[in-house]
Amino acid sequence: MTRKTGRQFFANPGPTNIPDSVLRAMDRPTIDFNDPEFIAVFDQGVAGLKRVLRTEGEVFLYTASGHGSWEATLQNLLSKGDTVLVLETGWFSEGWAAMATKLGLHPRTVHADWRRGMDMSAVQTALKLDITHTIKAVLAVHNETATGLATPLAELRAAMDAAGHPALLLVDTISSLGSLDFRMDEWGIDAVVGGSQKGLMLPTGFSFTAASAKAMKAHEAANMPRHYFDWSVMMTRPQRSFVGTIPTSLFYGLQESLRLIELEGLDQVIARHHRLAEAARRAVRTWSANNGPQLYGLDPARLSDSVTAVLMPDGHNANAMRKVALDRFNVSLGGGLGKLDGQVFRIGHLGDLNEPMLLGTLGAIEMSLRAAEIPHGRGGVEAAMDWLAAA
Ligand SMILES: Cc1ncc(COP(=O)(O)O)c(C=O)c1O
Repeated sequence: MTRKTGRQFFANPGPTNIPDSVLRAMDRPTIDFNDPEFIAVFDQGVAGLKRVLRTEGEVFLYTASGHGSWEATLQNLLSKGDTVLVLETGWFSEGWAAMATKLGLHPRTVHADWRRGMDMSAVQTALKLDITHTIKAVLAVHNETATGLATPLAELRAAMDAAGHPALLLVDTISSLGSLDFRMDEWGIDAVVGGSQKGLMLPTGFSFTAASAKAMKAHEAANMPRHYFDWSVMMTRPQRSFVGTIPTSLFYGLQESLRLIELEGLDQVIARHHRLAEAARRAVRTWSANNGPQLYGLDPARLSDSVTAVLMPDGHNANAMRKVALDRFNVSLGGGLGKLDGQVFRIGHLGDLNEPMLLGTLGAIEMSLRAAEIPHGRGGVEAAMDWLAAA
């Protein structure tokens, strides 16, 4: 095996780069999770998470990846046989709906054109037609990591209000929290699914649900079988969270990542994600000349600031291009998921990232396009630099 020199440029849309100071903060001996020293760190972590979520609600945590939070959120809020309305915007919303079916729920689906995102009037109509209020919850993915499109949550809330529907609003923020503007309480979101390994700049290892007062009321009536994920059990614990062993070192990391986010300022973090994302988009638009790769998303207003999905020209496989980028330039890009496998590659630009890191990634992509003889317009990196220098 040949040695790869320098640092790998990790441009996957999660897990993401972990800042060195977060790595250092986690490098410490084991501590009893009931030790008062740890409980103080834990409490600070939960308080900080609430600030990032912009909520005064409850937070329940699990030693699990995002899938655990998907499952916990459904189990704690719903009962077997309940109907849920799924906004089907891509691979991840499909996955959450498949899980709901396996758990004995009945998903009803509003389909979106994956390249254009959800039409809110279709959601409003689906809710209006449900005159008996059979639908107990609406499931939405804020940022579809597979397509690089975001769903405007304030518009979704407005559509639900306009339909006068009382369903709970459940939102997956796994690839948006700490990267895109998100306001749980202001937007009337009842349950938020989040995870450690993306905008929070931590290793994979915990996920969580934030729950509104309305969600807590629904929890009292929800009778789906659950044990490890049971919020009622968690509320009897000193930390009011976790059933089982707590991943203590991650909370020392969380303390540091929250410090970094708040030192930069949450609004500035969001602005930086926008600035870098726009640079990536400008590069892709330049490459798209000469029948080159193009932005997968077709509605500029919906393009995500945490990940850019790029559609390859006909006859060219995205995975072959990713292999060139990895083998020759040590740059790790995301692949296409599900039906987009081979058609799309994804540039992750969320978490701990700056201009030169993004330009290095874009430069490696442009070199890979050249090396693999994939048609493209030249000067994508130049276009990104023009934007970043002026921004
Ligand atoms: C939007 C979204 N939801 C859910 C998941 C699943 O999370 P996990 O892989 O942490 O289980 C992911 C993973 O990338 C995601 O991006």
